[in-house]
Amino acid sequence: MKAVVFHGPGEKSWEQVNDPKLERTEDAIVRITTSTICGTDLHILKGDVPEVRPGTVLGHEAVGIVEEVGGSVTNLQRGDRVLLPAITADGRCDFCRVGMYSHCRHGGWLFGHRIDGLQAQYARAPYADTSLYKVPDELTDEQVLFLADILPTAFECGVLNGQVKPGDTVAIVGAGPIGLAAVLLSRLFSPALIVAIDLDESRLERARQFGADLTLQSTGDGEGVKARLMELTDGGVDVAMEAVGVPATFELCTELVKPGGRVANLGVHGSAASLHLEHLWAHNITITTRLVDTITIPQLLKLIQAKRFDPTRFATHHFRLDEALAAYDVFARAGETGALKVVLTQ
Ligand SMILES: NC(=O)c1ccc[n+]([C@@H]2O[C@H](COP(=O)([O-])OP(=O)(O)OC[C@H]3O[C@@H](n4cnc5c(N)ncnc54)[C@H](O)[C@@H]3O)[C@@H](O)[C@H]2O)c1
Ligand SMILES: [Zn+2]
Repeated sequence: MKAVVFHGPGEKSWEQVNDPKLERTEDAIVRITTSTICGTDLHILKGDVPEVRPGTVLGHEAVGIVEEVGGSVTNLQRGDRVLLPAITADGRCDFCRVGMYSHCRHGGWLFGHRIDGLQAQYARAPYADTSLYKVPDELTDEQVLFLADILPTAFECGVLNGQVKPGDTVAIVGAGPIGLAAVLLSRLFSPALIVAIDLDESRLERARQFGADLTLQSTGDGEGVKARLMELTDGGVDVAMEAVGVPATFELCTELVKPGGRVANLGVHGSAASLHLEHLWAHNITITTRLVDTITIPQLLKLIQAKRFDPTRFATHHFRLDEALAAYDVFARAGETGALKVVLTQ
């Protein structure tokens, strides 16, 4: 088969590799029909995720058709169309039993990280019964594809951890695919005001399309944004979501919440951020962090079936899977190309 293979920082290729085979009785082999690229794949290519070994197939979000199942798989059979999410769950360990699939003792983030991923013609999916989700016939691959990562990330790490409530004021810092998904999914809880903050005006335009009531262009340190938000909200927001992953935006979020507020961190951080406890100790704030568990996939799937939101709005570009390298180029130059998510089909 062919796949996108990581060859160390800055190096990837679309090349011939061995077909995946069943290795354990809980595995399934899936023929990938639709896949996509994540900002995290770009981080891997920059060398920010050193545990990814050269030779690993990239990708952790896909939909496909089950080709073959191992002897102990009971929920799936050949021909089933399934969602392959970023997180694999054995369904049995102590973390899985409390819904924390991201920390599964035998699973977690495996695809395109610890094992071969999903930007490929075929993939081996471990713990298939408890990790894959059958796709309802009436939904297209593209309608469910973003359930693999961005939608549950925004929902679990942002909206649920931030405890968005009717009437709340919500600030979302970073309007990339994850921040935009947080805008879209916060609206399910009827906040009174959603403010999106980004450096890039074209991302803010998207945020308005996705349902932000107000957008503020930041210059980086967020000082102007902070002054404007304080004015608008009488001293701070109820919920601030960090959807960038740099110290400045985390620190900004802690300054944007009013006493009693919640800071929900979504961003993946590579360096230390300051926490000003000398100001915050008396403010009754809550700070949450989380790696996406993807445990809300069934819930979000029902909302998509009920047409409560349209997930295909994230798909700005379409390519064939064998054009994956061109798709990477478009995705990596999102500032020029306007890319949010690129869809790869075969
Ligand atoms: N917690 C999890 O499980 C999880 C899962 C997936 C992704 N993530 C992380 O979520 C974050 C967002 O992902 P994404 O794909 O939307 O990223 P992205 O890079 O596409 O978008 C980030 C946005 O932040 C904006 N930005 C950058 N610096 C800024 C600043 N100083 N102030 C305001 N805006 C700024 C950029 O213009 C961009 O629009 C990343 O850190 C990603 O790694 C976390
Ligand atoms: Zn587990």
